Amino acid sequence: MTSQQEFRRYLTNVDTTSTHQLFTDCLIIGAGIAGLRAAIEAAEHQNIIVVCKDSLQNSNTWNAQGGIASVLNNTDSFESHISDTLKTGCGLSDESVVDLVIRQGPELIEQLLNWGTEFDMVDGKIAITLEGGHSHPRVAHAHGDETGRIIAEALIRKVRENPNIKIIENFYTTDLLTNDNNKCMGVIGCDNHGPQIIWAINTILATGGAGRLYRETTNPAVATGDGLAMAYRAGAVLRDLEFIQFHPTTLYIAGASRALITEALRGEGAILLDNQGVAFMKDYHKAAELAPRDIVSRAILAQMLKTESTHVHLDVRHFKKELFSKRFPLISELCESFDIDIAKDLIPVRPSAHYMIGGVKTDTSAKTSVENLYACGEVASTGLHGANRLGSNSLLEGLVFGKTAGQCAIQDTKGAAAHIQHSKIKYQIAHSNRTRLDASDVRNSLRALMWRNVGITRKAQPLIEAQEIIRFWQRYVMDKTFESPQGWECQNMLTVALLMAQSAEKRHESRGVHYRGDFSKKDDKHFKNHIEIAHGK
Ligand code: FUM
Repeated sequence: MTSQQEFRRYLTNVDTTSTHQLFTDCLIIGAGIAGLRAAIEAAEHQNIIVVCKDSLQNSNTWNAQGGIASVLNNTDSFESHISDTLKTGCGLSDESVVDLVIRQGPELIEQLLNWGTEFDMVDGKIAITLEGGHSHPRVAHAHGDETGRIIAEALIRKVRENPNIKIIENFYTTDLLTNDNNKCMGVIGCDNHGPQIIWAINTILATGGAGRLYRETTNPAVATGDGLAMAYRAGAVLRDLEFIQFHPTTLYIAGASRALITEALRGEGAILLDNQGVAFMKDYHKAAELAPRDIVSRAILAQMLKTESTHVHLDVRHFKKELFSKRFPLISELCESFDIDIAKDLIPVRPSAHYMIGGVKTDTSAKTSVENLYACGEVASTGLHGANRLGSNSLLEGLVFGKTAGQCAIQDTKGAAAHIQHSKIKYQIAHSNRTRLDASDVRNSLRALMWRNVGITRKAQPLIEAQEIIRFWQRYVMDKTFESPQGWECQNMLTVALLMAQSAEKRHESRGVHYRGDFSKKDDKHFKNHIEIAHGK
């Protein structure tokens, strides 16, 4: 949306005088690692509300397999982890943020252990493995490939036992409320009882990513970019939206969900084979299967094209079956459910959208450009990942900036209660006659378009075409007033998709996860900088 005319500040009517209301010191939207960690921190001193649009169990964190990266033994060093992160970030990581995040890792992981996270252990120490781009084994895992669930369960237990934290599940946040001075004052949303306003002195956005904008994705259904869209409508600065990471290996079987096949598998020796049984990764990069994800993803696509195939394979036949099912129980079960015998059969895989590197711009206190609004986790752009994300650095980032957001939000309460209690916000949307719109059809078409035109390899013409098509769809979707999440999500997806296509078109170079077929080289002279977007600027 570029013109004022098309821009709608709120997705629903807002009338703060007649809507059911709650009040809290600190509101957290989202229940992945960042949101939960923020809640635990903030609840030390204040009353907190955590809302999430589904159940606490439905997040990208819950699905994380590989693990959480940190320096966990003395053959490794902070310098090495910092250097790997900076190298992967291709010149766009913020060095002070990288330093800050990586140095906090060991302590915060130890804390998770003390809170009951059952990390896998060897000789009394946390077991670690290798992933692409890491020059040392440093990825901690739990119950094999169930790391995300095990961490989330420990945090959820901690949150549930804290009397200062109220949890509201199945609460769909439609918008951040801002006053005339562009201060965030809470949210408007909807639960089973209808519209609700939650006034908050500080609000922490921890809504996760936007993988569902793509037809092929590892992300759960909730990852529709709502937080990005609502922050944009509220005037926040967003940045680096062209950088979306594609994971090289997701299960590719007709009818199966595009389940993640963790990179840790390659870290522990799985080989990529094309449909003629040829191991091809050495032809593309000297680190072969352990090259950075963007290189592996593009290599797989190139090999698929070369061999006229829809996918490639992961070969794990040389793994001991019993050890495999112990180390990778989720993948074992998944393969069995599709009659894939890992001792004899290959696992069909191909890349898919995995992680939103860009997001709402934050500083080292997790503050956004909107007063009293913080962001952490995948929805935030902290500066850690730059143009590419090192595998398993994101759970670490969520932990560090979740804690920071919680800590800073409770310190930042000056005069806030007064400005909230006197606030009145009214916003009325003009009536639209478009009653026959099928939002699910728009969503499916959008996801196919993003995969085709704003996918792993981009070029000017398809990017321009994507913007034209999205704008056309926006003309009849954005002026409609929906009454359920299906429609609001569709509006948010269109908003974020357009911003992503615009950012990708502007970057006339290839860097990190952003690969332009028409500008295949990195161009430091013109593009060693961030692309920022804010409404009206
Ligand atoms: O491959 C994986 O397990 C993914 C890890 C990550 O995205 O950090």
